[in-house]
Amino acid sequence: MAQPLLRLYPGRVAEVPLAGAFLGHDLRQLGAPATGFVYTGFITSLDGRVAEPDPITGLRGVPRSIANERDWRLFLELVAQADLLLVSDRLLSAFAKGRYLQLWDLAGPGLDDLVPWRRQQGLPDRPAVAAVSPWLNCSLPAGAAERELLLLAPDEASAHRARSLTGQGGEVLRLGPGPTLTGDAIVDALVDRSHTVICSVAGPQMLHTLVTSGRLGRLYLTQAHCLVGGEDYDSLLKGPRLEVGRAFNLSALYLDSASSPGQIVQVLDSVSPASPSKPQ
Ligand SMILES: NC(=O)c1ccc[n+]([C@@H]2O[C@H](COP(=O)([O-])OP(=O)(O)OC[C@H]3O[C@@H](n4cnc5c(N)ncnc54)[C@H](OP(=O)(O)O)[C@@H]3O)[C@@H](O)[C@H]2O)c1
Repeated sequence: MAQPLLRLYPGRVAEVPLAGAFLGHDLRQLGAPATGFVYTGFITSLDGRVAEPDPITGLRGVPRSIANERDWRLFLELVAQADLLLVSDRLLSAFAKGRYLQLWDLAGPGLDDLVPWRRQQGLPDRPAVAAVSPWLNCSLPAGAAERELLLLAPDEASAHRARSLTGQGGEVLRLGPGPTLTGDAIVDALVDRSHTVICSVAGPQMLHTLVTSGRLGRLYLTQAHCLVGGEDYDSLLKGPRLEVGRAFNLSALYLDSASSPGQIVQVLDSVSPASPSKPQ
């Protein structure tokens, strides 16, 4: 972790310490009270894979050949800045099974500064969590009642399941007809609850939802310099073809040659609605 990133853009090429590189982007300044600010981070292989079944466990996740601790650190700096994490019901259930706990707890080796950073900003130790759940067929992690945990469901989702999850500490919000919820319904409901800085840590389906509604403000995209191959995989976006391609402006570009494999990180701001100012 000691080796710096090389910032290639904007400005002159400069070494930037890895720890703090994304905390310095000051995402909390971008959370407009009326519309909120939604951002997300992905890592992809050279051939565009973001997820595949693990060859040993069979569980779907980021390909092992590209997942790395330097990208993870940067990703958790994005998480640390949020009022709320937007997750899929699948990821919430993975938390319940003890997977991805660093994401749920915001703690782990090399991450000791993140909760203190939040306290300095006057934030609760951990962000609230909202899970999209078309059928309310998810499990809640232990300790769910200790933080705000919203379950975003369509109107027709089972009342029985809703009662069960409420009894375990979740709060069900019904956001219109389903099974697929719109990005506007999701983000407006979160902003109504005063969560204006929203980090999506869900996958390609949620990215499609947010992009289609024009509610994604910024995409952090790490491209690991590695080919993965395989025939069963997820790529960045999953959902119907976009009628009009969504454009982004490059806001910053980093080379991380200390990771294995090497990788570049692009910070991409949605062209519409408003583009935030360049990270320093
Ligand atoms: N490489 C990376 O950086 C990266 C980042 C994130 C995730 N991933 C990987 O991508 C894979 C998929 O991620 P994921 O399952 O967390 O997220 P996802 O593909 O975005 O979402 C899948 C789940 O969320 C529900 N969902 C998504 N959008 C919805 C909407 N608009 N309305 C209602 N329900 C919605 C889906 O329900 P239905 O299917 O029932 O519609 C499904 O249960 C995982 O293997 C994960 O590890 C990789």
